[in-house]
Amino acid sequence: VEGAWAADGKGETIWDRFGHENQAFNNHTVDTACDSYRKVDVDVYLLRGLGVNTYQFSISWARVFPSGYRASMSNEGVLYYNNLINALVESGIRPVATLYHWDLPQAMQDEGGWTKDFIVEAFKDYADFCFSQFGDRVKDWNTFSSPWVVSHAGYGTGEHAPGLILLHFVLLFQVTHNILKSHAEAWHVYNDKYRGPQGGKVGIALNSDWAQPGDPMKPEDVAAAERYLEFMLGWFAHPIFIDGDYSQVLKTQIEKKKTDCTGSVPAVLPTFTAEEKARIKGTSDFFGLNHYTSRLVSSSVGGCVPGPQGVGDFRAYVDPSWPTTASDWIVSLPSGLRSLLAYIKNKYLTTHNVPIYITGNGMPTEYSGDPLNDTSRIDYLSGYINEALKAITDDGVDVQRFTVQSFMDGFEGKQGYSERFGLLHVNFEDSSRPRSPKQSAYFYAQIIEQNAHIITIIRKVHIT
Ligand SMILES: *[C@@H]1O[C@H](CO)[C@@H](O)[C@H](O)[C@H]1NC(C)=O
Ligand SMILES: *[C@@H]1O[C@H](CO)[C@@H](O)[C@H](O)[C@H]1NC(C)=O
Repeated sequence: VEGAWAADGKGETIWDRFGHENQAFNNHTVDTACDSYRKVDVDVYLLRGLGVNTYQFSISWARVFPSGYRASMSNEGVLYYNNLINALVESGIRPVATLYHWDLPQAMQDEGGWTKDFIVEAFKDYADFCFSQFGDRVKDWNTFSSPWVVSHAGYGTGEHAPGLILLHFVLLFQVTHNILKSHAEAWHVYNDKYRGPQGGKVGIALNSDWAQPGDPMKPEDVAAAERYLEFMLGWFAHPIFIDGDYSQVLKTQIEKKKTDCTGSVPAVLPTFTAEEKARIKGTSDFFGLNHYTSRLVSSSVGGCVPGPQGVGDFRAYVDPSWPTTASDWIVSLPSGLRSLLAYIKNKYLTTHNVPIYITGNGMPTEYSGDPLNDTSRIDYLSGYINEALKAITDDGVDVQRFTVQSFMDGFEGKQGYSERFGLLHVNFEDSSRPRSPKQSAYFYAQIIEQNAHIITIIRKVHIT
């Protein structure tokens, strides 16, 4: 949303480069976006109107450290985040800051980015700096948001910046390895230096679909669905929340493919030392979850196919009865959220008992028709919020936060501005980027006012 891609000395990021290389939809770029860099007062005023008690935003590493390193620190960049944070706090809105939401400084990419070890120390120093500057007011930190997408789409399929297809899904395992170490180092910096004086929480926001066995009576499908979850959520969650290491399911499967597919080498899972495992285990003060959709999963694609489906030996598809959205990957299955929350509670939070924060849920509408009439978003959100409520009241899951993705329409990565996730519409044709509430904004404001209980009533009428 920030835009101002080169203002006040900001460094270039991999998404700036991606846009300038015409790799996003219709050659869209992130140059101006919603111009939120210049609209702090307007945006915070609109957030007050919605009635939210938190606002989750990301800090752009290259706005704070243009080269990625502390020596390049930009006072203007720091000032922008200070102004935003102060405006939120003055409005009684809790700032929730994400340190990394995919926009690596290009200068660090030029050194190899997440594939190289140097990134761990660089990220740790950037995190340390942010805690020291903003932590007196920011008490909630996500180190990473949806890191699976960084490894998978950025360094695997190449659909996202930096757009590298690295040896058919070999180096993406190294990328996750370095992200896990970076996350852990940032958590330890906070734990050692800032937790005492600042009293906040540091965690990670992991994205995952829910995976249902195609045929629940077939053990192969049940195992395939489990592998799907292990390759998406477990790849990150198992080391952080269970034992500092990758799951046995992941290790066994990757070893099997490595043996079966000698020559085409579909994957190599790096290993952690005992010291690294101890350093990673338990490094999250909450379980952040970004969740948008579900899949049916069956076994198997077989053979030596590169990519997660091939390495994981599963086939993912959707049920034609699930409502589709403007996005080719999001279908609506609200009950999937409840299933996933119960799965997380039972699998990851039995010994490491922390609350779950839903750090992202939402869907895109198309950029056509009446942009303010988004009844499909109201249906989607009412369904998902209601299932989160059932998880709390009926399943005893400790869900403490729900975050809608997103406050306003913005640059949606590969899809540019063609997919609209916002509660607020943004007119990108108008240079002043006016924002207008959609019907879903009024709906969501009402939910907040009634603390979600209206949902129960809506679903009784429409569903049960
Ligand atoms: C995107 O840029 C390329 C290269 O300049 C050009 O050939 C193409 O027509 C552009 N596409 C659109 C939709 O503007
Ligand atoms: C909004 O769109 C829906 C579905 O396209 C339509 O049924 C409804 O009448 C529209 N509502 C308004 C207020 O325009």
